[in-house]
Amino acid sequence: MNLRDKNIVVTGGANGIGRALCRRFAAAGAKRIVVSDRDLAGAEAVAREIGGVAIACDVSSEADVIRLVAESLESCGAIDLFVSNAGITAKGGVEVENAAWQKCWDVNVMAHVFAARAVLPAMLERGSGQLLQVASAAGLLTEMGSAVYSVTKHAAVAFAEWLAIHYRPKGIGVSCLCPAGVDTGFLNPDDVYDQFLKRSAVTPEVVADAVVAGLETEKFLILPHPEVAEFLAFKAQNYDQWLGNFAHLNSRMERLAAKQKTREEGGKPKAERE
Ligand SMILES: NC(=O)c1ccc[n+]([C@@H]2O[C@H](COP(=O)([O-])OP(=O)(O)OC[C@H]3O[C@@H](n4cnc5c(N)ncnc54)[C@H](O)[C@@H]3O)[C@@H](O)[C@H]2O)c1
Repeated sequence: MNLRDKNIVVTGGANGIGRALCRRFAAAGAKRIVVSDRDLAGAEAVAREIGGVAIACDVSSEADVIRLVAESLESCGAIDLFVSNAGITAKGGVEVENAAWQKCWDVNVMAHVFAARAVLPAMLERGSGQLLQVASAAGLLTEMGSAVYSVTKHAAVAFAEWLAIHYRPKGIGVSCLCPAGVDTGFLNPDDVYDQFLKRSAVTPEVVADAVVAGLETEKFLILPHPEVAEFLAFKAQNYDQWLGNFAHLNSRMERLAAKQKTREEGGKPKAERE
């Protein structure tokens, strides 16, 4: 897809990757960009900067997503590209509470379903349109620091594959963006797993360039970190070894986290430590 003169909706557009995508799409000559976010002030700031439109939407609410699509259609006439980008995480493993699992499931998976359900009918009627599903390398490999993020991003990749199989033959483009670390507010500087990701993190602008190139060449899997393709191939061919390598790395992370915690506690007054 060539982005010139296209109408585009981006969820989670107020910050990070979403904001970089909005700016990059504007530079590529898009006609109208709807910057959507649950943070309306943030979305308005980006919309002002690029001459777009801001619409508030919590993507975990189907009613909100339906309204976003309806208002975008009203404002643009047609949606050429819908970018389902908003995403969240909850650090930890099996101990993470059910409510946090549910919230991640709603934002990282159901939001993609809500968006596809709302946006596909008009695209199918026109016989054209493009969906960009923002998943993560965690959806192809894993995210050691978060079980729920790994699980929900795998589900997001699975849904994107399913959409591609069913809708590409009907004229709808489907792409799935799977970055590893990206230098945004999403990465917590105090978390050892995020510190590890930050070491090889790319900027959101690099991600946006990879997206534009991927959309132009109609690629399904858009990988701003090319090494992710190699890691995925290694996983497919050596599953047990791949698990072993990650288990080894995770043990190092756990030791680092324990050291970091001791250091932090050591810096506190005795009364606070007890
Ligand atoms: N930063 C990374 O290292 C990284 C790596 C791989 C994939 N991703 C994915 O990229 C996407 C964007 O991440 P980012 O790094 O830009 O994060 P970010 O936290 O910088 O920005 C996310 C934006 O989404 C919005 N948002 C969160 N929940 C929402 C909801 N329920 N409804 C509407 N908006 C909501 C936030 O307000 C924020 O503006 C996410 O899906 C994330 O999982 C990020």
